[in-house]
Amino acid sequence: MKVIHDLNEIYAQLDFVRCDSKRIGLVPTMGALHEGHLSLVRRAKQDCDVVVATIFVNPTQFGPNEDLSKYPRTLESDMASLRLAECDFVFVPASDQIYRKEHSTYVDPPSVSTRWEGELRPGHFRGVATIVLKLFQLIPAHVAYFGRKDYQQVAVIRSMVDDLNVPIRIETCPTVREADGLAMSSRNRYLSEQDRPRALGLWRALCKAQSSLNAGIQSVAELEAAMHSELLAAQVDYVDYATIVHPDTLEPMMQVGESAVALIAAKVGSTRLIDNMTLLPPIQRSNEGSN
Ligand code: PAJ
Repeated sequence: MKVIHDLNEIYAQLDFVRCDSKRIGLVPTMGALHEGHLSLVRRAKQDCDVVVATIFVNPTQFGPNEDLSKYPRTLESDMASLRLAECDFVFVPASDQIYRKEHSTYVDPPSVSTRWEGELRPGHFRGVATIVLKLFQLIPAHVAYFGRKDYQQVAVIRSMVDDLNVPIRIETCPTVREADGLAMSSRNRYLSEQDRPRALGLWRALCKAQSSLNAGIQSVAELEAAMHSELLAAQVDYVDYATIVHPDTLEPMMQVGESAVALIAAKVGSTRLIDNMTLLPPIQRSNEGSN
């Protein structure tokens, strides 16, 4: 596994690989790697000849009161995990190389960024879209892999790539969870012993939305109420949103029809967690309406 810090070197090395007709897969991360990240690397290994992971804690996607300075940095163990996953290249740029002193160009993110995380974290998706586009420019990859865990983030990146005609394919990979259902996250390490069981409230609320839908409840207001009461029962500290939206536009809906996604953001202790679930329409009983 080659570890590269220099901007010019990563492009030169991978341009060489690309000229050799090899398929390049890219996995952007901010480090503090867990099985969720590594699942993206493994998926990229299956699809591509050469896999590049990036580790960069991107300052422009953190708000002034967010956790940039205390974001976990575990470079040594990240390298060991990537080596085990047989990653070919790791790009670990320095912040001042990515954002030179004169940097003043940003991506104005697409409309799908407006609500939910975009509303609660002003500037977040501007920072995400900007760094992701920069990584796409620096690394001539054919495919980039992102986790469904950050549902709105993938929607933003897909829209940006379509709108700006970026020549790369975006693949979305399933959310990797702990055995009890908690979505893996770099921030889970901040959950105290008391927080950890309460954090499961997000997963329980998502499952409740699906089971209520299975029981025939299609009104979004009722499904959202069911999610909120599950979060309350789990003693989650604060709910930013627990909502059901259109899977592509992320706009609110009144009734769940063909497809929908449930999105939750909530605070447990001092840790803010997000999770989501694609809701499947209830299985039509085979003999329904046939007599
Ligand atoms: P980070 O939070 O490090 O996540 C990197 C990638 O791992 C993202 O695509 C994220 O969705 C995915 N991921 C995180 N937890 C996951 C899980 N439990 N299961 C599956 N995938 C998971 O997301 C970012 O970094 C940054 O915003 C980035 C895109 C790198 C831009 O800075």
